[in-house]
Amino acid sequence: MPALPKRIGVLTGGGDCPGLNAVIRAVTKSAIWRGGIEVIGIEDGFLGLIEDRCRRLTDVDVSGILATGGTILGANNKIDPARYPVDRDGKTEFVDMTDRCVENLRRRRIDALVVIGGDGTMTVAASFVKRGVNCIGLPKTIDNDLHGTDVTFGFASAVAVATDALDRVHTTAASHHRVMVVEVMGRNAGWLALHAGIASGSDIILIPELPYDLEVVCQKIRQRSQHGKRYSIVCAAEGARPIGGQQVVDRYDPNLPEPVRLGGVGRVIAHQIEGHTGIETRFTVLGYTQRGGSPVPQDRVLATEFGCAAVEMLLTGQHNRLVVMKGRTLSHIDILEAAGRQRLVPTDHPLIHAARCVGTSFGV
Ligand code: F6P
Repeated sequence: MPALPKRIGVLTGGGDCPGLNAVIRAVTKSAIWRGGIEVIGIEDGFLGLIEDRCRRLTDVDVSGILATGGTILGANNKIDPARYPVDRDGKTEFVDMTDRCVENLRRRRIDALVVIGGDGTMTVAASFVKRGVNCIGLPKTIDNDLHGTDVTFGFASAVAVATDALDRVHTTAASHHRVMVVEVMGRNAGWLALHAGIASGSDIILIPELPYDLEVVCQKIRQRSQHGKRYSIVCAAEGARPIGGQQVVDRYDPNLPEPVRLGGVGRVIAHQIEGHTGIETRFTVLGYTQRGGSPVPQDRVLATEFGCAAVEMLLTGQHNRLVVMKGRTLSHIDILEAAGRQRLVPTDHPLIHAARCVGTSFGV
């Protein structure tokens, strides 16, 4: 049996989401109380590791944070250690800082690193693993799109926010006899739109995995109108795209680990619907409200399970595992397997079938 870690690092990679503090708390408390392991919190994700910014976390530091949004460690989703921007005589050059990260971990005698993140974070972790660092991954993201796990923490909270917003939009749509398009996040995956759309009884759900036909969308709205329903609710994933068309890109920065930022499809679709049907149409973009605020109980529970499981991995001498939830069972897979892989909605997913059964259109 390999020596058990005496000191571990923990960092939150990528963008924030509800439940990060809950998972930091679970890792820290269970490492200290179960294993007598010292916990070092690394600030601002991989940026803090490059810049060697970290601090010891005690059980007191993580007390009272279970229900709070954000991350006490800070987040950064712009830095890839393999391409760190350095200013040289006014010109930006990209330098590989992976070795420096590993060096900083060794110098601080950190025996294992708990990385909390999505596919991008696991990709960086994979580069550390290849240099001999033991990394234990924990799946977070509101997009629910990490390969290998059925669920990530943060997702349930984002679904709750989006559902609440859709419910609110529903009543004003009915009052004004309008079509309301609500754009939700999710990157290239439609999980968030699918769940919030079903939970709110949206009439039309548009997801990236099922490119839509605008005419089918408009036909559904007209039909509802003819049957006395003088309003319709469209829940559109930010990654939704028409058949044969492109996603709507808000920003493109080739220097970011993930160059494309999606956004704007809600506005585009709303204008098209109004133009085609003549029915007044408005749009709402939920944006970062889906990532902020207190985690719902389901995410607090999941984050606690994940955090404790990470420490269990370390105490049982496991290396380079990603803790996952399959069905209702906690399990783990090789962290390298999840690196850079997105889990999209299968087009024959039972939830798509269920939504269709209650008359929801996917615009195809
Ligand atoms: O991955 C989480 C997420 O919120 C996506 O749903 C969204 O496309 C992206 O991050 C936004 O990233 P940023 O915080 O860089 O704007």
